[in-house]
Parts: sequence; C-alpha cells; structure tokens
Amino acid sequence: MSALFQPFSLKDVTLRNRIAVPPMCQYSAVDGRVNDWHLANYTGQARGGAGLVIVEATAVAPEGRITPACAGIWNDDLAQAFVPTVESIKAQGAVPGIQIAHAGRKASANRPWEGDDHIGDEDPRGWQTIAPSAIPFGGHLSKEPREMTEEDIARVQQDFVQAARRAREVGFEWLELHFAHGYLAQSFFSDHSNQRSDAYGGSAENRSRFLRETFAAVREVWPENLPLTIRFGVLEFDGRDEQTLSESIDLVKRLKGDGLDMISVSIGFSTPEANIPWAPAFMGPIAERVRSEAQIPVSSAWGFGEPQIANNAVEQGQLDLVMVGKAHLANPHWTYQAARELKVDKASWTLPAPYAHWLERY
Ligand SMILES: Cc1cc2nc3c(=O)[nH]c(=O)nc-3n(C[C@H](O)[C@H](O)[C@H](O)COP(=O)(O)O)c2cc1C
Repeated sequence: MSALFQPFSLKDVTLRNRIAVPPMCQYSAVDGRVNDWHLANYTGQARGGAGLVIVEATAVAPEGRITPACAGIWNDDLAQAFVPTVESIKAQGAVPGIQIAHAGRKASANRPWEGDDHIGDEDPRGWQTIAPSAIPFGGHLSKEPREMTEEDIARVQQDFVQAARRAREVGFEWLELHFAHGYLAQSFFSDHSNQRSDAYGGSAENRSRFLRETFAAVREVWPENLPLTIRFGVLEFDGRDEQTLSESIDLVKRLKGDGLDMISVSIGFSTPEANIPWAPAFMGPIAERVRSEAQIPVSSAWGFGEPQIANNAVEQGQLDLVMVGKAHLANPHWTYQAARELKVDKASWTLPAPYAHWLERY
C-alpha cells in the first residue's frame, strides 16, 4: 500500500490521500473578487484527485494584497464570491482550504509576468505598504513601508479574525494563516525586517508576539473541530540558520500549545541575500526536524512533484502531507498519474466517473 495514498485525518477532517495542492496565487481577481478563472482552476485540481486544495493567498485587507489582482476576503461580499469554488472543490471529493494573508512590505507589486517589482510611487494602481519597521525588502521590491503603530497591529489582527470568520461562513474546512515568505507575519518574526524597540521587536519572544496574538485571536473564531494551520518560514538560508531554526521550533511549540494543528514548513524569504540550496525535496529533512522536535504534523513543498519522491517523504516519516505545487499547474491530474506510476491499489483511488470508464482501459 502506498504511503502517499493513505487517508489523513486532522481534527474532524479526513483527506482521501496525503497529496495537497498548496496555495498558488492566480493574480486574476478584480478588486479582490475571485471569478470563473478561480472556479475552473481549483475545480480542475480537486477533480485531479488531491486530498486537499488550498486556495491561494487571500488578502485580509486591501493593502495586504501582493498585487492589485490578488484575491481578497476583506468583506462579506468578496467572501460570497468563493462559494461556487468551495462547493465545487467539495463536489470533486477534495477538502477546501484557504490561506489568508497580508503581504506587508511585499505588497503593491506588479504581477510576476508584468515585472514582479514594486509598482512605482506615482502609479495610481499602487498603495502605501506597512511593515514592522520602515525597511524595504530590497532587490526588485524597493518601496519603503510605513512602520506600523500599535493601532495598525490591532487592526490587522482583527482583519485576520474577520477573514477567518468569513472563510468558515462560506464553507472552507481548512484554514492556513500565511506566516511565511517575507509577508507581514514573517516580517515581524525576522530581524531582517523587524528592528522595533517596543514589545513587538527585539527578542525572539517579542518578534513572535504578532504571530502568537494573531493566531490566538483567530483560534477563538475558527471552529475547534476543524484544522487551523500556519505556513511558516522556519529558516532563511542567510548563514544564521541554526539559531533561526531553533527560535522557529520554539515558536511552533508555543503555537501548538495555543491550538495549532499543523505546520506547512517553508522558507522565510525575508532577504534578497539568501542562498537557498534548491534541489528536489530539499526541505524534507528540515520539515522532519520540526515534526520530531515540536511533535506536530507537518507538510512541506518545494520539489516534491515526482510521485516517487512524494511517496518517499511520507514513507520515511518526513512529512504527513505533501504539497505538490507547480506539477499541479502542469497537470491537474497529477494525483491520478501518481497513482498509476506508483501502481497503487485500485481501491485507494478512483477517476471521475464521466471518464473513468474510458481511461481505465486507456
Ligand atoms: C504561481 C505560484 C503562486 C504561488 N502563490 C503562493 C501563495 O499564494 N501562497 C504561498 O504560500 N505560496 C505560494 N506559492 C508557492 C507554492 O505554494 C509552493 O510552495 C511552490 O510552488 C513550491 O512547490 P513546488 O515545487 O511543488 O511547485 C506559489 C507558487 C507559484 C508557482
């Protein structure tokens, strides 16, 4: 029996296998509103057999979008636009998840295929970004953010809470808080971006405060019986990884005590100076360390898109769930392809009825 095709249960949710589609921005919303593109995209991925489909980074406030075309959930009307997508993911047998996010100092950018850089200050499409400190990311993202006041911090935390409430109201069953990739929460944790001298900066405990407070506030509104997870960059590959990793694992343990159900182990992306050792499945051993030291279920992405590699990661106890990203963009039926390649027992997967009859003989 393939480890990758074992069901996975967390709280009251059971996934049909260990394959998840990680959040992937589509940069195709209009004023934050998702549309038929999103419906088709996520329906395809769910129909392709993955156990979990996590909808892209969805902004909790307008200024928290990465680009003007990013999805948003900052009011009830925008939340309602997700209903067809949520229902369709479920109808295809996958669990519908969503990642809620605030892009912080990386917000107000052009879409990847239109430059990927910050929108110019004179351009009316852009906006003032906010961050723990007035330090730009650098490189292609050079815009200087405004340092957040304590009122800003409280407001953004409430934005996360309201976004979580709305996500549940429209039927999402799995919530991921975007605490990774140099966006707002990660930028509080990292001293590359946080040079505050108040209770939100300085020591690891202070740099963790925004994340812990936001998590705890969301936990109060997100149902106890449904998974509440984070995506978190546990290291930066900036030459200080042992210290960062140990601070990160410490935070994960505390969050577990606060009710965290699972972590998607990722990269900080807080500095353009990072030296990332890209290779297939290179985050596997790091995820395994988080899993064993924090005693919490983990997932990870980055180069697990070969069926045998994905299966090994589960079989060897590195990951509980495998995030398969770009391979799902290339082939939304990745899961069925993996089932065939791994020669998985027919009892553990079924093709969609409308074409199973033909493809089983194909
Ligand atoms: C088009 C695209 C959009 C992405 N958007 C997000 C996002 O919204 N949130 C996030 O946490 N990661 C995002 N990522 C990162 C992916 O979730 C994933 O970690 C990455 O693609 C590496 O996994 P892979 O090697 O399987 O593709 C994005 C990646 C791609 C290719």
